[in-house]
Amino acid sequence: MQSSTLQKHRLLGRGKYTDVFLDSSATKVIKEAKNKSAQSIRQIENEFEKLQLINKAKISPKVYQISNDADGIPFLVMDFIEGKTLRSILDECEGLGEKLSSEFAFSLIDQISRSVYTLHQHYHLGHFDLSPDNILVSNDGSCIYLIDFSLARSEQEFQLIDEAVGKVDYMAPEAYEKEFGLHNDIYSLGIILDEIKNNAESLGFAVDLDFLIASMKLPMVEARIKIDEVVKQVNQFKTQSVELKEGDRKKWVVGLTIISALFVAALFFNSSETKPKMTNKSKLSKQVKYEKKQRINKKRKKIKKGQQKKTKKFKINNETKNIFKRIVK
Ligand SMILES: Nc1ncnc2c1ncn2[C@@H]1O[C@H](COP(=O)(O)OP(=O)(O)OP(=O)(O)O)[C@@H](O)[C@H]1O
Ligand SMILES: [Mg+2]
Repeated sequence: MQSSTLQKHRLLGRGKYTDVFLDSSATKVIKEAKNKSAQSIRQIENEFEKLQLINKAKISPKVYQISNDADGIPFLVMDFIEGKTLRSILDECEGLGEKLSSEFAFSLIDQISRSVYTLHQHYHLGHFDLSPDNILVSNDGSCIYLIDFSLARSEQEFQLIDEAVGKVDYMAPEAYEKEFGLHNDIYSLGIILDEIKNNAESLGFAVDLDFLIASMKLPMVEARIKIDEVVKQVNQFKTQSVELKEGDRKKWVVGLTIISALFVAALFFNSSETKPKMTNKSKLSKQVKYEKKQRINKKRKKIKKGQQKKTKKFKINNETKNIFKRIVK
């Protein structure tokens, strides 16, 4: 661990053992009151180790280094993610009495489940502190990042955990019995997905999602669903919702086709009442003649009308004639 200077510009977050500041990157520092605790040093070192391990997976902010500041306090430096925690997004929604759009909610469910899948299946790591506080959502909502790996453990380290870890509201019941495994994360994930669902507009697959969440929160560890099955089911929801949208689109196309067909039929019906029907060539020429005749008739009528108007203009009635006669006399 090298020593380097630490600039504390803006406080991003405050936890039990650490503060996170923004300088050019995000810097996680052990709180001064806790800086002598061996546990907090172990945790920040553990976080660095685990983040480094998963750096390439892009499910967490990229970590750069762990250093000691001038006072010998360890801090770690990672990418600053411009965004909000899932906690603050959910709180904002509740505060405003608004709901997350179903698309955004589903994208969160999908991304968070896949990140946990990567952590469990590719790196065999348990997070042990999954909660909306430890999930960052980028400002445009397109990316999520798992953070706070201070309690993360590899499968070989599960037996070394000696106390219940994580946040009480998200903690699996077996954690109180000091029974640790990847199943703890599944339970926490179940509660997170439930919270997202409850803060979202109604999702098309709500019943299936309820069922999935229930199987993530089963108290019996052996019966609890595994992450690969979770991701598989979420993928099925994705196909279902695409099919639903596709179905809606088809309904619109069919509807519009019927309306246009009716419109064309109405036009044809209307015109066939005034014009002779044409079925072959001779009838076609009759049709042409008929239309020509009609045009000529129209013109004649117009001319007649014009003439009538003109004659009307110069018509002298009897009264006027009498006046003329008197003047002449
Ligand atoms: N890389 C980052 N980019 C942006 N903000 C971050 C980043 N890392 C952490 N934060 C902010 O800092 C807050 C605290 O970070 P984190 O959860 O890692 O530590 P903590 O909860 O203080 O940890 P502990 O509970 O171990 O003391 C987060 O909720 C988040 O708002
Ligand atoms: Mg935290």
